[in-house]
Amino acid sequence: MSTGNGHFNLLARVLHWSMAVMIVAMLFIGVTMVASLHLRPLLIDLHRPLGIAIGVLALLRLYNRLRHRPPPLPADLPAWQARAARASHAMLYALMLAMPLIGWAMLSAGGYPIVLWGGVHLPAIVPHTPALYAALRGAHGLLAYVLFATVLVHVGAALFHLWVRRDGVFQAMARGRD
Ligand code: HEM
Repeated sequence: MSTGNGHFNLLARVLHWSMAVMIVAMLFIGVTMVASLHLRPLLIDLHRPLGIAIGVLALLRLYNRLRHRPPPLPADLPAWQARAARASHAMLYALMLAMPLIGWAMLSAGGYPIVLWGGVHLPAIVPHTPALYAALRGAHGLLAYVLFATVLVHVGAALFHLWVRRDGVFQAMARGRD
């Protein structure tokens, strides 16, 4: 197997691994807070600021990604796998940006205060509209499952590169010179 050359820059690697932890934590925090009345107040107070932080970091990550070309995929990677990689990465970027925005818009539409911590509130970004709240609530839940599924496929593909193809794709995100 050919070995992919190059690696993602330091900022890309730090954002990748820290956001991976944050996103997986958010998926579990989300499902636990809707399932447990007891844990809900604590978890929802964590969910809002962590979700907004993911949105801000996703913007920084997109900016870095557009400024620095990622290392090329191995030349002998089947075309369908290269297409699947590009599509799943685009999907992950879209969901990293959409989930926080939908969460923020949903609370705005529901007329809820959007408290980050202490007295720090975010402004409403859409008018108070119960029907819109219902639609965004449904979208937030549904897209969370799509995000979960995409993360699972992404992890599976990363392990396939690491253990089966052994082509350096995993290492490009795991370590580098800068
Ligand atoms: C990457 C970011 C985010 C992820 C992965 C995420 C994930 C989730 C998940 C998995 C659920 C449970 C859905 C269900 O089971 O129906 C949920 C619910 C919720 N999320 Fe998020 N979320 C994110 C960002 C945000 C943000 C930024 C806010 C608000 C500022 C927010 C507010 C809420 C609220 C209010 C609920 C529902 C509570 C309820 O109706 O019981 N989320 N989220």
